[in-house]
Amino acid sequence: MSQKIFLCQSSDLHDSGPAVAFELLYFSQSQAAFAVRYEGRVYAYLNRCSHVPMEMDYQPNQFFDLTGHWLICATHGAMYAPETGQCRMGPCRSGLVKIDVSELDGSVHWHTSDKFKLLNI
Ligand code: FES
Repeated sequence: MSQKIFLCQSSDLHDSGPAVAFELLYFSQSQAAFAVRYEGRVYAYLNRCSHVPMEMDYQPNQFFDLTGHWLICATHGAMYAPETGQCRMGPCRSGLVKIDVSELDGSVHWHTSDKFKLLNI
């Protein structure tokens, strides 16, 4: 059964601004993840490029490119759509691994699933 895990306050995320980092278990492995706000909505993904499975931020929690419309991998410049995580440009092969989130009453939560579990459980 899915659980909703507190991630951050709504006010911590601004359109095309810095991400909030968190960690979870992805198929039993500890993984870095991040949440961003884009055009008002919150999205979350594993912090793992689909080109080479490494973290993408060029500075801590900076994922948006200068236009504020793409999530960019610092290593070779792969660009992903913030709403879907799909690869749009560069050497990425597919997309980012998306994590379900919800926002209610000023709080953002991520959702556990078969793939995503709470760390330390
Ligand atoms: S590792 Fe991300 S573009 Fe190559």
